[in-house]
Amino acid sequence: MLDVGCFSSSPSLLLAIETSCDETAVAILHGHELLASEVASQIALHTVYGGVVPEVASRNHLRTLQPVLDRALEKAGVSLSQMDGFAATCGPGLATSLMIGASAAKALAIGFRKPYLAINHLEGHLLSPFFGAPDGLGQNPQRPAIALVVSGGHTLLVEIEEFGRYRLLGQTRDDAAGEAFDKVGKLLGLPYPGGPEIDRLAREGNARRHDFPRSMLDSDDFNFSFSGLKTAVRYLLPKLDTVHLPDLCASFQEAVVDVLVAKTLRATRARRLRLVALSGGVSCNFRLREKMRTACAAAGVELLVAPPALCTDNAAMIGYVAVRKLARGESSPLTSDIDPNLRLVA
Ligand code: KG4
Ligand code: ZN
Repeated sequence: MLDVGCFSSSPSLLLAIETSCDETAVAILHGHELLASEVASQIALHTVYGGVVPEVASRNHLRTLQPVLDRALEKAGVSLSQMDGFAATCGPGLATSLMIGASAAKALAIGFRKPYLAINHLEGHLLSPFFGAPDGLGQNPQRPAIALVVSGGHTLLVEIEEFGRYRLLGQTRDDAAGEAFDKVGKLLGLPYPGGPEIDRLAREGNARRHDFPRSMLDSDDFNFSFSGLKTAVRYLLPKLDTVHLPDLCASFQEAVVDVLVAKTLRATRARRLRLVALSGGVSCNFRLREKMRTACAAAGVELLVAPPALCTDNAAMIGYVAVRKLARGESSPLTSDIDPNLRLVA
């Protein structure tokens, strides 16, 4: 077994860039220690369009990356010439956004004659709960985990065997969980992205008010489907005399959370594992965290969840994967492409 948690030589200084969608992010790590993590959100720019506009996103990355990078260097108290490597997200994501971060990291790698590391955004999310965890992943390879990655673009149930060895157990057949939150948010007239708004409103609501479908709850696989739930909300709305937003949000959210929690716990039983790692933007959700915590405790399963700043898109999670690859002597060719459809498991 690989013991990737231990470094053979002194820890590396690494700069990571994340521009896969609409966050411009730069992080600096010294080994596993996070020295700086800066994120410039573009949400305000895209809200007027009700979603991310690729050209607006990439042009804004182009303008914002330099100041974000400067802020990260200043916070970390280091200079570019001290870096041992430069990493960037190479996919999945918006092609024109990915190209900005990847080009910048390659240029830095060329200029400072240091390795370039192309990192899978999904692997960043997947491993983010282990960042700062006492035993980390890899230092304790005897404890594989079930990981639920729930973001705006993906809903994946994965078995982590060890760093770099992942088995895809299931995924969504249609909308990702975050996408369902955002689409239902739009139906309810909430600002983009709908996820955090629904979470906020649901805290005051009655989750039993509307009985929404729990799609694929009893299917004997680990796949998900959320488009039927979105349609159920759409059909219900015209039938209501008045829309009580908190109750509607709480009921919708409960339907999503119930399926996510039930399938994750079922996976731990099927694979006989006692560790769950929850990640991705939707793992900021208050009810998901609460229900997953309760279910894991009842089943005697340990739960790792990243702090909210590491759940939504950030460069720290990209740096965390890159530092591990660098420690194994891995790097990427400067001719490597981005891949908007990159998968976690080939
Ligand atoms: O991981 P992320 O920042 O970007 C992707 O890689 O997609 O996830 C963004 C998604 C959005 O769909 C957003 O609505 C959702 O995460 N999200 C939430 C919450 N915070 C962010 N969904 C539900 N509850 C939240 N508190
Ligand atoms: Zn993401």
